[in-house]
Amino acid sequence: MDFDFTEEQLMVRDTARDFAVRELDPIAAKLDAEATYPADKVKQLAEMGFLGLAIPEEHGGGGMDYVSYVLAMEEISRACAGTGVIMSVNNSLVCDPLVKYCTPEQKKKYLEPLAAGRKLGCFGLTEPGAGSDVSGMKTNAVLQGDTWVLNGEKNFITNAPNSQTAIIFAYTDKAKKHKGISAFIVPMDAKGVSCGPKEHKLGICASHSSSIFMDDVRLPKDALLGQLGEGFKIAMTTLDAGRIGIASQALGIARAALEEAIAFAKERQAFGGPIANLQAIQFKLADMATRLDAARLLTLHAAWLKDSGQKFSKESSMAKVFAAEAASFVADESLQIHGGYGYTKEYAAERHFRDARITEIYEGTSEIQRVVIAASLIRD
Ligand code: CAA
Repeated sequence: MDFDFTEEQLMVRDTARDFAVRELDPIAAKLDAEATYPADKVKQLAEMGFLGLAIPEEHGGGGMDYVSYVLAMEEISRACAGTGVIMSVNNSLVCDPLVKYCTPEQKKKYLEPLAAGRKLGCFGLTEPGAGSDVSGMKTNAVLQGDTWVLNGEKNFITNAPNSQTAIIFAYTDKAKKHKGISAFIVPMDAKGVSCGPKEHKLGICASHSSSIFMDDVRLPKDALLGQLGEGFKIAMTTLDAGRIGIASQALGIARAALEEAIAFAKERQAFGGPIANLQAIQFKLADMATRLDAARLLTLHAAWLKDSGQKFSKESSMAKVFAAEAASFVADESLQIHGGYGYTKEYAAERHFRDARITEIYEGTSEIQRVVIAASLIRD
């Protein structure tokens, strides 16, 4: 693994950093407080090629690698974690499986507008009764002549209220258990598709999520993504890459919390000087920075494995669980260093504390990441 970034990777990181400082920092607190979807910022990210950053240019994407994607995701999420996840869902949960599993015709029709950011996508896997246990889903699809008919309900779907396209997982043969799940590309304006109300969330409030209801949704035959019965595998391989995106989002949240804690500690006076002079504060900062660096190395390693065509499922779960727990730890310590001020809306510490928490839950809880890591250790 090369620890030096290429010029292209640095260019992506610096472009993301400039955008985050200029466009997101001034509005992130307001987006959070008002739970506003940053439509114009998402449009700008699309124009910069960031909604399909690691998708080949021939399919409308930015043509960069996953290391670049990690660097960009950290920068965007450092300023606004909600905007970060809007970007990561479109990149890794939607465009990635379309690159891998679409036919050439499907790529033209479905992938290109998403990779270019003319459309936004969401990933419909979770259901009210099926989160970690994917095979517990109830949504089903039946082929009637040349038409697929979908019925069911998905929930907690990030980007759903703002999306034009969804990847929906449904049983096509319940008797075959996970081997009877298939994946479908569903236009959100298809007759019978509707979204529930936006969920009121603890954090990442700029990103909107909701249920998706499907009531006799009729789709053409080419709505099937990949082979019949391949849906579970598509979901798992997609999440392998998606988890690198969430790990990067966690890096951004942790970095914001650390940088603000350092600035506050140098400013805040107590016991005759800045609290940064106190060893109790210094030890906290040291632990925060060490966990953040370790999380970044794990995340970049997983991205590098993916870029070099090697297996990365275990490593992306390691990166995700470690970065998510590091983000929660760093954000918690940052709030503590801020003292009473940290508990108010005057400082961003409480926002980072709230934003960090979801990284331990979505795209597989920390418990599920440990299941994936342990299974790989025993199997391989
Ligand atoms: N790649 C390829 N194949 C895989 C795989 C992977 N990463 N993981 C499992 N498989 C295969 C297995 O090899 C097995 O294949 P065979 O049947 O041929 O032997 C098959 O899939 C079933 O595997 P398991 O027996 O391990 O399946 P399981 O039912 O026990 O589930 C699990 C395993 C790890 C718990 C999995 O269900 C899982 O990851 N759950 C978490 C789901 C999740 O992350 N949801 C997030 C929703 S999306 C989201 O959060 C988006 C958002 O809002 C931002």
